[in-house]
Amino acid sequence: MNTKVIDGKAHARAVREALRPRVDALKSRGVVPGLGVVLVGDNPASRAYVRSKGRACAEVGLHSEQYDLQPTASEAEVLERVHALNADARIHGIMVQLPLPEHVRVERVIDAISLAKDVDGFHPQNVGLLATGHPNLVPCTPAGVVVMLEREGIDLQGRHAVIVGRSNIVGKPMAMLLLQKNATVTICHSKSRALAALTRQADVLVAAVGRAKFIGGDMVREGAVVIDVGINRLPDGKLAGDVDYASVLGRASHATPVPGGVGPMTIAMLLANTVYAAERIAGKMGSE
Ligand code: GUN
Repeated sequence: MNTKVIDGKAHARAVREALRPRVDALKSRGVVPGLGVVLVGDNPASRAYVRSKGRACAEVGLHSEQYDLQPTASEAEVLERVHALNADARIHGIMVQLPLPEHVRVERVIDAISLAKDVDGFHPQNVGLLATGHPNLVPCTPAGVVVMLEREGIDLQGRHAVIVGRSNIVGKPMAMLLLQKNATVTICHSKSRALAALTRQADVLVAAVGRAKFIGGDMVREGAVVIDVGINRLPDGKLAGDVDYASVLGRASHATPVPGGVGPMTIAMLLANTVYAAERIAGKMGSE
């Protein structure tokens, strides 16, 4: 079977282009959508992600501010930064890059983010809205996967989606979004028995385990759609997904590469969430 390689960069470009008129409309009302990014510590991968998020904002005309805190910053200092961004009228979206250092409680920090500015969709109230079928701000990576599948014309209704990974960032919200699209959803994880027997049932397989080349071609049904959320650094410095890409080519109907697949979509959805948040905040201020 000829595998179609899904071009995440092209889909992300299209998402960004669609944001332009909305950004222009906001600007004509004197509102420049603004994203505040908080980075704690010096994790090189986090640093690289945050840099590309800032660049992407500039490309579509969004304002962005980055706050770098020392790895030793206390929880109180991180909370203080979040509170300042909550109160800042130029900021419509707040993103605290994860992971945080161990001494900072991630749930405390996420709880502190204003619901209206929670462009990661990690606040428990936004998680609850998604789980009850009333999505508001939705986590960027799973949202990007769904948009990419839709733009590829892949119908999800009644199909079996198998997700490997159960993180709050990807696995769990991915399941909620796929359920909303009427897929039949299985979540598996590192403790699942007979994992390959589960993944081989997938019409759509989403790999979000965080282990390089964990999903081999033998775990993929002929004709399945394979979405690789993993970004892992190999000892030689190269990037690899969670899927052994070479072994699914010729087997999957569609597959996303790493890099150039899900990653660019995640960033595009962060911009989309920031524009959406700005529209809602501007609307509530009575200028509509
Ligand atoms: N770390 C890895 N992915 C993400 C994400 O989508 N948002 C945040 N805030 N941190 C992350």
